[in-house]
Amino acid sequence: MSNYHIKHLEEYYQVYRKSVRNPEGFWEEIAEEHFIWRKKWDKVLEWDFSKPEIKWFQGAKLNITENCIDRHLATRGDKTAILFEPNNPDEPSEHITYKDLYHRVNKFANVLKENGIQKGDRVCIYVPMIPELAIATLACARIGAIHSVVFAGFSATALSTRINDSDCKMVITADGSYRGKKTIDLKGIVDEALENCSSVKTVLVTKRINSDISMKEGRDKWLQPLLDNASNQCKAEIMDAEDPLFILYTSGSTGKPKGMVHTTAGYMVYTAYTFKNAFQYRENDVYWCTADIGWITGHSYIVYGPLANGATTVLFEGVPSYPDFGRFWQIIEKHKVNQFYTAPTAIRALAKQGTELVDNYDLSSLKVLGSVGEPINEEAWHWYNDNVGKKKSPIIDTWWQTETGGIMITPIPYVTPTKPTYATLPFIGIQPALIDENGEELKGNQVDGRLCIKFPWPSIARTIWGNHERYKDTYFSAFENMYFTGDGALRDEVGYYRITGRVDDVIIVSGHNLGTAPIEDAINEHPAVAESAIVGFPHDIKGSALYGYITLKDVGESRNHQNLSHEINQLIADRIGPIAKLDKIQFTLGLPKTRSGKIMRRILRKIASNEMENLGDVSTLLNPECVQNIIDNRL
Ligand code: WTA
Repeated sequence: MSNYHIKHLEEYYQVYRKSVRNPEGFWEEIAEEHFIWRKKWDKVLEWDFSKPEIKWFQGAKLNITENCIDRHLATRGDKTAILFEPNNPDEPSEHITYKDLYHRVNKFANVLKENGIQKGDRVCIYVPMIPELAIATLACARIGAIHSVVFAGFSATALSTRINDSDCKMVITADGSYRGKKTIDLKGIVDEALENCSSVKTVLVTKRINSDISMKEGRDKWLQPLLDNASNQCKAEIMDAEDPLFILYTSGSTGKPKGMVHTTAGYMVYTAYTFKNAFQYRENDVYWCTADIGWITGHSYIVYGPLANGATTVLFEGVPSYPDFGRFWQIIEKHKVNQFYTAPTAIRALAKQGTELVDNYDLSSLKVLGSVGEPINEEAWHWYNDNVGKKKSPIIDTWWQTETGGIMITPIPYVTPTKPTYATLPFIGIQPALIDENGEELKGNQVDGRLCIKFPWPSIARTIWGNHERYKDTYFSAFENMYFTGDGALRDEVGYYRITGRVDDVIIVSGHNLGTAPIEDAINEHPAVAESAIVGFPHDIKGSALYGYITLKDVGESRNHQNLSHEINQLIADRIGPIAKLDKIQFTLGLPKTRSGKIMRRILRKIASNEMENLGDVSTLLNPECVQNIIDNRL
């Protein structure tokens, strides 16, 4: 097990040096020793960031589900693979063993085949956090279909955009979902979305809330009877290393969402290796990541990374506040969770409740605490460390992205000394660089700049579905021969990294990436709206929240601003989803613009954040007079 489990800081540096001196040799050794292959590769790596083209383990043949399931059967057949914890604490949890998982994935895979799905077809999965979500993704992978999981909190419009972008042939969904006290009519949302999706031939519906829904003749089928009749054996499709495994959409600063394409072998190797080391996972540990499988964190660190290591991974259907704000702590106690991975926004919301609830539960099983999705502020870091980890469990602040597939910068627990708000050191094999405005790499420590990565790692996304040009423009054109992350970062005196936030027009609200352009497009659809600009501003719980500046077509618009705000937020919820609603809406007479007519978001951002003292020179604007007016009417 050389290099597989890093045990101390000296070893980290040693392995790190080896991984950057000879990346091919390093990853080849990991791939050789820890996975099963139907055929080994001909070449470990071929890459050219100028095209961009990246290929890992070319020529290798494998199926990721044989690595995540089949190979564990001999030694871990009766071990729990997925531990399902339902929304309602009174409903029993479900232990799905590796053997059960094998049978359930095979049955599902056979149902997909019987319904016309073949290797390379795209299947949209719009399912809440229940076992079928993980099983459906694995079933696609079993037969080589490309899954596109869409977070089941997205609206019908957002869903149809994603289905159409990759021409999905099938949608897998549920009759509805539970979310705390509420139920959500998922099938209704799917029906609405499919009014605009001609590529979808079949909809498979799993029962969760037993609601009365309508089934469209010839298109919609209940899943359970099909599963009951399917064989529990399904041969794994043999895939090429570089065959797409899945598409996952992420927001861009402009235009429609980007369907990031991840391929098979490199993704598997990197997520498995990072899972093992970043969480210091040991056999028989119970690991819990609270993300939704609809996001990359769930793909890599609920499903693929843990299962590739034969781990027990908790899948939680509910929310942190139901039936009360002690729910997370109750689950940790109940299942004796060892590694707990959540988002700063959840920590802040829980911290607001005080310490009484968290003190009520026995959290002594915890060994590692993780954070992901946005910068963790100092206060939240200490609250997490003191009250959840009791100062004994290291916090790993893991920085990464949908595009990177796996964790990129993180402390290794019990190995890297942590520092609040710092993601600390690059993971093995990762070569970060900070770049100044002139495109020069900043050498040495105590510098800050744009965060780029100089060398490919196995799980980097290979393209944007259907739009390789956009992939190149977004990630490889800002700086020559570098992957540009869109984030800013600083490197302190010992070489630790701290992520300072996005440097583009993506705003991270409660850990969700939101592009400003699609939100503005939604707002501009309102008949009364002339123009709008969205910026982020600091928010206690969400990290950032959205502030919208809106000008109306008719300045004398007689309608009540409150009603208008409500309608605008409803429109955003319909077009994108409730997560993109604006916290503040200011109706203004004008938006500050450059002489070439570009909206100066920088100024609007400062005003929204109450930083009026350093607005900079506004005199060169086309309409400087509007700035004072906006300040005077600030919310
Ligand atoms: C931000 C989530 C600071 C960052 C895995 C990144 C973070 C974007 C951290 C990607 C962190 C993620 N500290 N910022 N530990 N983790 N981010 O694609 O801006 O949903 O570019 O992937 O979230 O979000 P995504």
